[in-house]
Amino acid sequence: MNIRGLGYVGIGAPDPKQWLDFATEIIGAMPARCLPGESWGMPMDPTSGPASGGSGVGEDGSVYLKFDDYQWRVAVHPDKENYGLLYIGFELGSRVELEQAVEELQGKDYTVRPGTDDEARQRSVTGIAFTEDPAGNTIELFYGPCKDYKFQSPVGAVFKMGELGMGHMNLFAADLEGTIDFYEQALGFRLSDYIVFGPGLSANFFHCNPRHHTLGLTRVGEINGLHHLMLEMENTDMVGQCLDRVEAAGIQITSTLGRHTNDNMLSFYISSPFGFEVEIGCEGLLVDDNWLPSEFCEGDIWGHKGLDPETITESAQALKSG
Ligand SMILES: [Fe+2]
Repeated sequence: MNIRGLGYVGIGAPDPKQWLDFATEIIGAMPARCLPGESWGMPMDPTSGPASGGSGVGEDGSVYLKFDDYQWRVAVHPDKENYGLLYIGFELGSRVELEQAVEELQGKDYTVRPGTDDEARQRSVTGIAFTEDPAGNTIELFYGPCKDYKFQSPVGAVFKMGELGMGHMNLFAADLEGTIDFYEQALGFRLSDYIVFGPGLSANFFHCNPRHHTLGLTRVGEINGLHHLMLEMENTDMVGQCLDRVEAAGIQITSTLGRHTNDNMLSFYISSPFGFEVEIGCEGLLVDDNWLPSEFCEGDIWGHKGLDPETITESAQALKSG
């Protein structure tokens, strides 16, 4: 299977509007110009257009956020029970690749279900199938996303996405071996590198395109969930300007500015409104097909104070109790 990148992420939150403010004012996303399943109206008729009017908010209260040419990249659905990650969308290259992906998953005895046209439309994609990783995350495989261009960040941010996918996610996986098998052997991710930071504690990083890692997997006890979502900006000034907005708004910085050893990312981490952290970075390393996996022994060249095994474990435990 040839996953092209992280396409989109769905989150559950008691108050999606809070996410809309956070994502637009602090991170620099744009409310989606049109929502999945909604009509664009008549071309060339300025009086017609999507009913949402570019608010990014749907009738059910869901919020859709745009970061680049894709119609949306992050959806936040009102959900009082399922706090945090609801689904992860991985992009494939074509209908044929999606059909082959379904067959491959069936052949490996993973549960997989081809989606309907309506289900694809609800994600603004052409075709979709659903499966689940061994950590219990809903995985959506899709091809043919709707691109509507005209992204304009309210704060002048530019995000590095496109062929690198929207960023990376670091997940807690209780069944680490089974989850690694799923991503490597079923979805075709390749190990970039890993770090061992205690007995039974390791962080493992996987790529599916030139981005050093699209996925990080860590085991902290019996906990499954999302530790952080990384969004990469075009340059250091944009990251610094975002840090200024974070400090002005009094948002909790969970890890100070620093540079990671393995993916070279210059970044900082903040609390997001609901349950997981957001890493904002730039200058991430690109890898190619000649890349060989390695073990590395230190997480950071400098900085990133607050990102250590103890606080990562605390975050995982907060997810469990939250
Ligand atoms: Fe990260």
